[in-house]
Amino acid sequence: MTPSPHVEVHLTPEDLARALRADVRAGLGSRPRELPPKWFYDERGCALFEEITRQPEYYPTRREREILAREAGHIAGLTGADTLVELGSGTSEKTRLLLDPMAGAGQLERIAVFDVSEPTIRVATAALAVEYPDAEVHGVVGDFERHLHHLPAGGRRLLVFLGGTIGNLGPLERKWFLGELASGMAPRDALLVGTDLVKDPVRLEAAYDDAAGVTAAFNRNVLVVLNRELDADFDVEQFAHEARFDRDNEWMEIRLRAVAPQVVHIAALGMTLELEAGESVRTEISAKFRRPVVEAELAAAGLELVRWWTDAAGDYGVSLSVPAGR
Ligand code: AVJ
Repeated sequence: MTPSPHVEVHLTPEDLARALRADVRAGLGSRPRELPPKWFYDERGCALFEEITRQPEYYPTRREREILAREAGHIAGLTGADTLVELGSGTSEKTRLLLDPMAGAGQLERIAVFDVSEPTIRVATAALAVEYPDAEVHGVVGDFERHLHHLPAGGRRLLVFLGGTIGNLGPLERKWFLGELASGMAPRDALLVGTDLVKDPVRLEAAYDDAAGVTAAFNRNVLVVLNRELDADFDVEQFAHEARFDRDNEWMEIRLRAVAPQVVHIAALGMTLELEAGESVRTEISAKFRRPVVEAELAAAGLELVRWWTDAAGDYGVSLSVPAGR
């Protein structure tokens, strides 16, 4: 029999609506103008992101899968984990690469998935409960910034944060986030993080500006979300997609640039936005890493890097760390 998954909701649709209004008011009302990347991911945004991962230019997903396919058995054995905790669960497709050897070794007792999206958590937990009938499945709907302490404790946990999503955070946010994660870890726990690596800017910029225009559609989709959720009137076609590697900060900057002057009304906020031609809104950063930076940031959070794997081409890195001095 498949036990039914247990889902805890700490973030209601009303909480999300309030957060969107606050982010848009603050982000578009000041300069430089920006919107947090989490608002890309409505249903269409999730589908567009899936499509991005299949574009020839977008290598990170394939590189991470290559590493996990090669090392998953090793990771299960090294950590001895009985619980897998997935942060930002998305489709959980790559997590299965880790779950299979854990289940195969008879060590998998529990799976927990954490995400801001309740539908995502419902779908992910239901599927995992069917696929891993011997494991307890938990879902936690929450915000990384507020609800990490609701992750189920106990056992021997492997926390996984894949996809390079940590790159959406700036250095200070990462410091805070890793510190929070580490402070909730027991000595027997381990953390697996996927990070895209610094490389030729030509390849980076191509990965975020694919020839088929999927990333451009994904980027513009945030305006579609604002039009729908906040009764705004962005003329989406008047915004050009832009993806530039910032060499000083070693991150990709994703922007929407007004191709002509725009007057936009955001009815739900009683806000009028006047944009000059060429003015832009930053919609995302995607930080690129080097091993010493990852190691130093983990150490600053009290975590010790114990393994570092890259794909054969050296494009992407996966780190395994544990509480220092455990
Ligand atoms: C989901 C945040 C890892 O930064 O590569 C892909 C998002 N944005 N193309 C990334 C994204 C544009 C992606 N992450």
